[in-house]
Amino acid sequence: MNIGIIGAGKVGVALGYAFRQKGFSVVAVSSRRQGSLEIARKYLGSDPTYTTDNGRVAELADVIAVTTQDREINNVAQELSILVDSLEGKMVFHTSGAHPASELSPLDQRGCHLGSFHPLQTFPDIESGVAVLPDTYIFIEGDDEAREGLQTLARAVGFDSVIIEGKNKVLYHLSAVFVCNLLTALLYSGEGIMGNAGIDLKPFYPIIKATLKNIESKGPLLSLTGPVIRGDAGTVASHITALEGMELHERVYKALSLVALDISEKRQTLTEEQREALKSLLE
Ligand SMILES: NC(=O)c1ccc[n+]([C@@H]2O[C@H](COP(=O)([O-])OP(=O)(O)OC[C@H]3O[C@@H](n4cnc5c(N)ncnc54)[C@H](OP(=O)(O)O)[C@@H]3O)[C@@H](O)[C@H]2O)c1
Repeated sequence: MNIGIIGAGKVGVALGYAFRQKGFSVVAVSSRRQGSLEIARKYLGSDPTYTTDNGRVAELADVIAVTTQDREINNVAQELSILVDSLEGKMVFHTSGAHPASELSPLDQRGCHLGSFHPLQTFPDIESGVAVLPDTYIFIEGDDEAREGLQTLARAVGFDSVIIEGKNKVLYHLSAVFVCNLLTALLYSGEGIMGNAGIDLKPFYPIIKATLKNIESKGPLLSLTGPVIRGDAGTVASHITALEGMELHERVYKALSLVALDISEKRQTLTEEQREALKSLLE
């Protein structure tokens, strides 16, 4: 496969690096800014053509990865469909988690095979992306030819590939946001609350890691501990009092404690009285 990359950002460069490591040929890379192309060159070497012309990448490559921000994917597809003479039989994929392959639909009438290839992973920068890709599941969808080609790429650079239907991508991505991005936001909140007591996050890493380990072996339902599942309404009331003046944290605490209450009901750990006491505090 002659691979071209449009969008020299974190995912584009990390994937390009991994493709090259596995023996695939990256023939061209485009981006809007020269600075981004220079960074890409450091990882991908001097063999590929570096350009600000996306059409040039589509001319040189048989397999084209559109690794721009989500909002740019459709624009790039339109641009290629207008500017590039011969696209018949080329495979074009994007790496968005939320959008299906149809985000590239302007290329459908041009005889391209369309797909999406989403590494279920967090890439805060290129280095960490390169480091975690081999342990990453890659979710794939698209037409038959694209799925086949993308599975080959995913097995080479990731841990495994999983096929997903386009209609399920928003729910899939929403779950990823809950377990990754919002988990980060939650830990940021926890760090802020601790900061009021002059404590930093470091001593909390063992409990965070143990929680994740329990979840990996038992699942979230059986891993929950704490005052809600024990029915300690007095402790929950003291937390709510302590959250006075921290309105955003209070809303997060109450909403997630209601989820914990839901778990407690499923595990049948509470008496009716305990459940009602907690519910009235949290609602
Ligand atoms: N970051 C993650 O954790 C992660 C994980 C999985 C999947 N994804 C998905 O991967 C995609 C890329 O994400 P990212 O985090 O790598 O974004 P990013 O670091 O912001 O990189 C996107 C790059 O696309 C380039 N670009 C934007 N519009 C362009 C255009 N019209 N033509 C050519 N290049 C263009 C930008 O180039 P310039 O710098 O030259 O302006 C930028 O460097 C997104 O679809 C995202 O949803 C991200």
